[in-house]
Amino acid sequence: MGESLNYLVAPQRLSRADFVVRAYRPGDGERLAEAVNASYAHLKTFMPWARPQQSVEESEGRCRDFAGRYLSSTDFVLGIWSPDETRLLGGTGFHLREGGLELRNAEIGMWIRGDAAYRGLGSAVLRALLAWGFGEWPWLRLAWRCSGANGASQRVAEKAGMLKEGVLRSHSVDPDGSRRDTVCYAALRGEWKDPAAA
Ligand SMILES: CC(C)(COP(=O)(O)OP(=O)(O)OC[C@H]1O[C@@H](n2cnc3c(N)ncnc32)[C@H](O)[C@@H]1OP(=O)(O)O)[C@@H](O)C(=O)NCCC(=O)NCCS
Repeated sequence: MGESLNYLVAPQRLSRADFVVRAYRPGDGERLAEAVNASYAHLKTFMPWARPQQSVEESEGRCRDFAGRYLSSTDFVLGIWSPDETRLLGGTGFHLREGGLELRNAEIGMWIRGDAAYRGLGSAVLRALLAWGFGEWPWLRLAWRCSGANGASQRVAEKAGMLKEGVLRSHSVDPDGSRRDTVCYAALRGEWKDPAAA
């Protein structure tokens, strides 16, 4: 990988017994709309993009935008699917929020649909993304940031073996308008070990 890297031939798909993680494609809009509309009450507290009713057209536009940005290596948004890929279980991705591609840093984001949350899926997907990110992607550093009010998100990072690096006090605003701390976690290639593989 060169210093002036401006695109990546990115991996497209990760398959595990309980889920598939893959890049969005044209045609995914209906399933994205179904998943976020069924999960609005669960997502609205911490996901600023969540809206009560997303149309299929709006969601299809987002899927096409995700696919375009994946191809241009400006953002790597991924869907979390049931093993047969008929049901969208959530979303994740490697986001370039810590500098350009050449730095080989990314931040992992995640949401799990309401009726699949709190059953271990988020933790399993985060561990799988760290293993994939350090194995098949060029990432050297993978970060995870969440609201200080988001206990489940902090727990998921800890369970996946990420290190808490610090707290940015009164750093962001949650969707309800309240100012919150941002809790910062990260894992480094060569240092991170999958806690479940121990
Ligand atoms: C946060 C999220 C991605 C986690 O995924 P998940 O599949 O629900 O997580 P898991 O079931 O693997 O693990 C959740 C852990 O948090 C714990 N937990 C749940 N609510 C909690 C709370 N309010 N405070 C502290 N811990 C909490 C659970 O007990 C579990 O830990 P355990 O296994 O030790 O018991 C998911 O719940 C979600 O989509 N939430 C809404 C969107 C969001 O907040 N995204 C993250 C933004 S940074």
